Amino acid sequence: MIKATIDGQAVTVSPQLIEKYSRPGPRYTSYPTAPNWSKNFGPEDFAAQLAKSNAAGRPLSLYFHIPFCDERCTFCACSVVATRRHEVAEPYLTALSGEIGRAASLVDSSRRVSQFHWGGGTPTYLSCEQIEKLWGAIARHFSFADNAEISIEIDPRVTSAEQLKTLRGLGFNRTSLGVQDFNPDVQREAGRIQSFEETKKAVDGCRELKFQSVNIDLVYGLPRQTPKSFEKTLEQVLELNPDRIALFNFAFVPWMHAHQRKISERDLPSGETKLEMFCGAIEVFQDAGFTFIGLDHFAKAGDELTRAQRDKTMYRNFQGYTTQADCDLIGMGVTAISSVDGSFAQNAKKLKDYEETDFEKTLATRAGLKLSTDDLLRQMVIRELFCHQQVQLENFFALFEKERPSLETLAQDGLVELETNGLRVTPLGRLFLRNIGMVFDAYLKPGEGKFSRTV
Ligand SMILES: C[S@@+](CC[C@H](N)C(=O)[O-])C[C@H]1O[C@@H](n2cnc3c(N)ncnc32)[C@H](O)[C@@H]1O
Ligand code: SF4
Repeated sequence: MIKATIDGQAVTVSPQLIEKYSRPGPRYTSYPTAPNWSKNFGPEDFAAQLAKSNAAGRPLSLYFHIPFCDERCTFCACSVVATRRHEVAEPYLTALSGEIGRAASLVDSSRRVSQFHWGGGTPTYLSCEQIEKLWGAIARHFSFADNAEISIEIDPRVTSAEQLKTLRGLGFNRTSLGVQDFNPDVQREAGRIQSFEETKKAVDGCRELKFQSVNIDLVYGLPRQTPKSFEKTLEQVLELNPDRIALFNFAFVPWMHAHQRKISERDLPSGETKLEMFCGAIEVFQDAGFTFIGLDHFAKAGDELTRAQRDKTMYRNFQGYTTQADCDLIGMGVTAISSVDGSFAQNAKKLKDYEETDFEKTLATRAGLKLSTDDLLRQMVIRELFCHQQVQLENFFALFEKERPSLETLAQDGLVELETNGLRVTPLGRLFLRNIGMVFDAYLKPGEGKFSRTV
């Protein structure tokens, strides 16, 4: 039995419950999930969506994918090109600059960027000159809202003080640092050696330069991780005093990322041990003054994300939880995903295919989906559950008649409370949020094995 206090309420998780709900399932950074998008959705479809979105004139969220890393961490499931030949960045930046011009030509210049993110891979793979060059190409085509969130993912092992200074000088105001775990054994098995000292140096560097917010990424469920070893990592993380923490469930998907085969399944903690570590972390972070946000995030009491969760204005997109609800998201770079006016679009997944796109004439869209009315309804329900742990909707049970037996099972297991016009996730149910979302997923087939495990 695992015991924890979540949202001020004592919860107990039995091994039977874990056994029942530990199965493959999506993380719902999008609904419908990417495997259900169509290859027939191409550049013209995405361009039409962009043009259409100008009527509403929503603010923009821009995402730039920098896929490069010096080496591949064994545990990683991100879209990465691993090479120490840094010259690969030049042709990539040329293509990216073409895509920026093309996308900007389709969007009204009066629309302001209120959220902006460089992710990867490792964006600080780029030299200071390359960072400035990319920023220059973006700033020539887009204008920013005064209080825009401008963030970047930083790998503390490769990010120099000079790069941080350059980024801050350009206007970046948020950083997110990859840590995962500080235990040397776990680091060895995860293929990522990173000392506490080099991490602290990066955090201190961000503080000195007055970045408004510093996030730390952690992962639970890594090989050789134990509740005891992880507790020590949590202590060290608190010592770094981040504003936000993302605590991801390890996605072990060797059928999608062959390099993960280096990890032996024998070394992976069981579902029960994983949940014990997750519950332990929730308690440690809550005791340290953090609020448990949605599925897997934590934010300090005064943080905007905490306020947005409380005021029910929080939103979830491909980058995780955000306070910027009403943006159209344009993703640029290889594999990047956009979400514009009720549609998803994904760029070419192969670097060569992306770089060979003639951005003078077209975009690099290779898949996507225009959401149907039913998709939009289910998307809203899943988003409400993942952001606010409740959904209220007139005629809810008439709309979801088919789902009712599954919802009743969740209620019997104590994961949700059914209400007249919707449902509320219990503190226990927060540990099984992905399973609750799966009930509303019209595309999910029984026994579907392509996703990572929910517990
Ligand atoms: C693009 S990386 C962060 C930036 C930089 N490359 C670094 O590693 O410091 C994004 C984050 O995704 C998370 N991540 C990567 N692979 C994962 C996996 N297999 N399961 C869960 N989270 C994962 C890690 O927490 C990682 O920090
Ligand atoms: S975790 Fe970060 S540094 Fe490691 S391979 Fe993934 S993207 Fe690259």
